[in-house]
Amino acid sequence: MREEQGLGPDPKRMRLAEIFSSNKSTDFEVLVKGWVRSIRRGKKWSFVVLSDGSSFGDLQVVVDGGLATYDRLKEASVGASMSVRGKIVESPGKGQSLEMQALEVEVIGLADESYPLQKKGHSLEFLREKAHLRPRTKTLSAVFRLRHTFSLATHRFFHAKGLYLLHSPVITGLDCEGAGEMFRVTAWDLENPLPRDEKGALDFSKDYFGSAAYLTVSGQLSAECFAQGLGGCYTMGPTFRSENSQTARHLAEFWMIEPELAFCDLEELADLAEDYLKEMIRSSFEECEEELNFLHGRYAPDLTDELKKMLDAQVRRISYAEALDILKKSKESFEFPVAWGKDLQTEHERFLTEKHFKAPVIVVDYPKEIKAFYMKQNDDGRTVRAMDFLVPGVGELMGGSQREDDLDKLRARMEELGMKAQDYGWYLELRRFGTTPHSGFGLGLERALMYLSGMGNIRDVIPFPRFPGHVGF
Ligand code: 4AD
Repeated sequence: MREEQGLGPDPKRMRLAEIFSSNKSTDFEVLVKGWVRSIRRGKKWSFVVLSDGSSFGDLQVVVDGGLATYDRLKEASVGASMSVRGKIVESPGKGQSLEMQALEVEVIGLADESYPLQKKGHSLEFLREKAHLRPRTKTLSAVFRLRHTFSLATHRFFHAKGLYLLHSPVITGLDCEGAGEMFRVTAWDLENPLPRDEKGALDFSKDYFGSAAYLTVSGQLSAECFAQGLGGCYTMGPTFRSENSQTARHLAEFWMIEPELAFCDLEELADLAEDYLKEMIRSSFEECEEELNFLHGRYAPDLTDELKKMLDAQVRRISYAEALDILKKSKESFEFPVAWGKDLQTEHERFLTEKHFKAPVIVVDYPKEIKAFYMKQNDDGRTVRAMDFLVPGVGELMGGSQREDDLDKLRARMEELGMKAQDYGWYLELRRFGTTPHSGFGLGLERALMYLSGMGNIRDVIPFPRFPGHVGF
């Protein structure tokens, strides 16, 4: 159309990521659309800084006062959306290598002075209250591009290892971890009297699914079935825990990545976990270099070096008994007791990784009482083939185990724990028909993002956090 009017070819619509990755001026016209981060107005010139979310860098747009559309800039303010046509040129100014010389500007959506992200440097707490707008900030947009990179790199990694992606169900009847921290799913109208059996207990046979249903705490049990057919698979999906934790490391809804492999013991699983984490660190530095420079610079100055050091070292592996020994011999005063049979608390995990080893560490062979029913029992009768992967700044990043593949031992353990074998008939059949030594772990995606970015609160690495007392947005 423009050509018919003698105006030359249509401008090329480009996102900033494309402009900055080519890092070249253009001899053709470009159309950019984004939001105003800042604006400096003058009589002869105005300078608009636009961001479109696609890259860490923003685009400085130089608008000549003689431009026919110059008046439209009056409506432009911080937060407004705009479209700008122009050429990309080398910037004589400091702080950017390229800028745009505008030929036409248009304000698409106004933003009035109540736009909350006016000033620089809002606190992360303030931004949590503006969770619908925080993707426009430097920090949160960087975190969420990192989240994307991590997710894609995860698919690439497991695909290359020959594992298949499994979409495990979100609604389930079983408590995989046995901790009883489940959200109930029901179609009952809770305003009405609920059906009860002759003993007065709620009668879930009359509810939607014909039995009690919950949001899943883990996709593991499904993954075990598919690993025992496909050889290896992994899940990546939301999981839910109703534990009453208000800590900076817990969410009620979080994303877990759970690989599961047949013919795999705990040592091989620990190798896989270590390879996976190292590959995620490499991919993050390769694909989100600017994001990590910015986040580490602002929130965790030593983290770049720490992560790079981690790439070159073998992750140390110790037993739970050895971990207890180190903790007992330390001069630290811990809030929670250090004793056989007590789970390691975040303070213990952080002592091991931040003060003692100053590096990630894998702890194996925990007492069976503090771990889930499905873990393989060691010959000592006291411990199970559990594995927790601990990292500095976060504590537990992955939890996994070799699974009990012996039908009789599994049945006996379930009985000990008072579990109903009839609810797990299909799970037990995996041991009856062609059982294999098999293993898997779960990595909390948000914990991994905290570790990589240096963000101190898990609520800042998930789009809309859910935690006790909060389900906003
Ligand atoms: O150690 P967990 O509970 O392990 C399981 O659920 C196993 N079924 C996994 C498996 O073997 N397939 O949880 C695994 C990981 C933890 O290491 C942690 O990173 C994360 O999930 N996680 C949480 N992240 C955020 N908020 C919470 N409330 C979390 N609980 C666990």
